Amino acid sequence: MTDIDLRSVMGEFATGVTAVTLDSEPPHGITVNAFSSVSLDPPLVLVCFDHDTDAHRKLAGGEAEHYCVNILTAGQRILGEHFAGMTDDGLEPFEEHPTETAATGAPVFSESLGYVDCSVHEAVEAGDHTIYIGRVEAAGLRESDSDALTFYESDWGSIPDESTTATGHEE
Ligand SMILES: Cc1cc2nc3c(=O)[nH]c(=O)nc-3n(C[C@H](O)[C@H](O)[C@H](O)COP(=O)(O)O)c2cc1C
Repeated sequence: MTDIDLRSVMGEFATGVTAVTLDSEPPHGITVNAFSSVSLDPPLVLVCFDHDTDAHRKLAGGEAEHYCVNILTAGQRILGEHFAGMTDDGLEPFEEHPTETAATGAPVFSESLGYVDCSVHEAVEAGDHTIYIGRVEAAGLRESDSDALTFYESDWGSIPDESTTATGHEE
């Protein structure tokens, strides 16, 4: 099996897309779909960072100690592309998009579907990635009635919010 085989198979797994922000100075962002809930009691989630990312280097090197997972709306695709390094758009996301802070100091994008703000509970080495298990310090909904941004077969897409489909009426 080659890594290309694995990538193509994993590409059949449709996911949402997140922008994970770090509480470094200045703040940092990375596009991530390796995000999962882990435990409710205690509240834990995880994200996986490639060793060849600045996000990993900042957390591993102590430049950042917290991360916030921002679940992106279809309208925030520009953030997903920007933080994946796919565009040379000159965007200053932390200045041009509204942000706030919740508990840890990592930026929350106020126009996201919702956010999960974490301190690093454990870092587990796993091949060429590190799994950062996060202890949830705060979580909240923001623009949760917006359409969700998705990634499937290497392409961006969206899932309409149920409350605005079909009849267009709130359910
Ligand atoms: C939809 C999508 C999902 C991604 N998910 C991850 C991921 O879960 N973990 C990861 O390390 N990189 C992921 N990447 C790649 C990083 O976003 C990309 O390498 C980025 O440029 C790293 O940023 P940094 O080096 O500035 O931290 C993803 C890219 C895309 C487009």
